[in-house]
Amino acid sequence: MRVLVLGASGQLGSDIVRLWSGQVEVIPAVRSDADVTDAEAVRRLVASARPDVVVNTTAFHNLPVCEQEPLRTFEVNAVGGRNVALAAREAGAALVQFSTDYVFDGSKRAPYVESDARRALNVYGTSKIATEDLVLQAHPGALVVRVSGLFGLAGSAGKGGNFVETMLRLAREGQPIRVVADQVTAPTNTAEIAEGLLPLVESGMTGVVHLAAAEGCSWADFAEAIFQLCGLRPDFRRVTSEEFGGPVVRPKYSVLGSERVAPLRHWRLGLERYLREKGHIPA
Ligand SMILES: NC(=O)c1ccc[n+]([C@@H]2O[C@H](COP(=O)([O-])OP(=O)(O)OC[C@H]3O[C@@H](n4cnc5c(N)ncnc54)[C@H](OP(=O)(O)O)[C@@H]3O)[C@@H](O)[C@H]2O)c1
Repeated sequence: MRVLVLGASGQLGSDIVRLWSGQVEVIPAVRSDADVTDAEAVRRLVASARPDVVVNTTAFHNLPVCEQEPLRTFEVNAVGGRNVALAAREAGAALVQFSTDYVFDGSKRAPYVESDARRALNVYGTSKIATEDLVLQAHPGALVVRVSGLFGLAGSAGKGGNFVETMLRLAREGQPIRVVADQVTAPTNTAEIAEGLLPLVESGMTGVVHLAAAEGCSWADFAEAIFQLCGLRPDFRRVTSEEFGGPVVRPKYSVLGSERVAPLRHWRLGLERYLREKGHIPA
């Protein structure tokens, strides 16, 4: 199986490339190979790679910037996703497109499943709803994979690092740390997504599926687990979203469950694995 991975420099893309190599033939592609907003460049790239599967991990997801730049957000996520979907369909390739827990509004208090109604609270989430719809229109056999709270060895290209590294840096600099305790999600190690996804792709699964760590926690709980596992005792305070402020409205609850697949391992195991592989705690 030949797999073309778009966004191969990102945290999820790089883990898919790293962990699928050797099991399938992986062709990594980055922005300089094709900007996803350029339909013709995407078509040329996909046609020349002759993949069996195209995996699109690209996104514009710096949420405060998305609020300021809705046009660019929709151009990269929704139009870019459609460009990739059209090119994959034309080349006769299967397609995997990533989406987010932020397509939900957080009014539920049990894990969101695939058939739950979407209602996004911010520009980014709304652009990903449009992405899901445009991708499935352009390529009805696509697999749309909703994931949540990603952290991976490469760090998010679009966000400049990841939550774990930000917490460790602030703690080591001795800075006061304030983290929201009223936003609950399932922080997920991108390596665990990469490993969980391959069998689904090999089985030919289509439609929407949720792939996230088992159990949810607040960002404050997650931060405390990072500090505890790394033996750090920073100046830390749990705050509400209102106290934290900021331009982006986020769902208070966005844990992903599934009607279709088993959850990945507990978020804490994914975190321990990340900290070990990154060298923050002993192997
Ligand atoms: N991070 C999260 O917490 C999270 C949560 C839920 C869902 N997701 C979704 O999961 C997927 C992967 O996220 P991630 O955290 O791995 O992202 P990431 O690390 O920011 O990587 C995104 C990749 O997309 C590339 N890219 C951005 N704009 C592009 C364009 N116009 N043309 C071509 N490439 C472009 C980036 O390339 P450059 O390096 O050149 O910018 C980068 O390689 C995305 O669909 C995201 O929406 C993420």
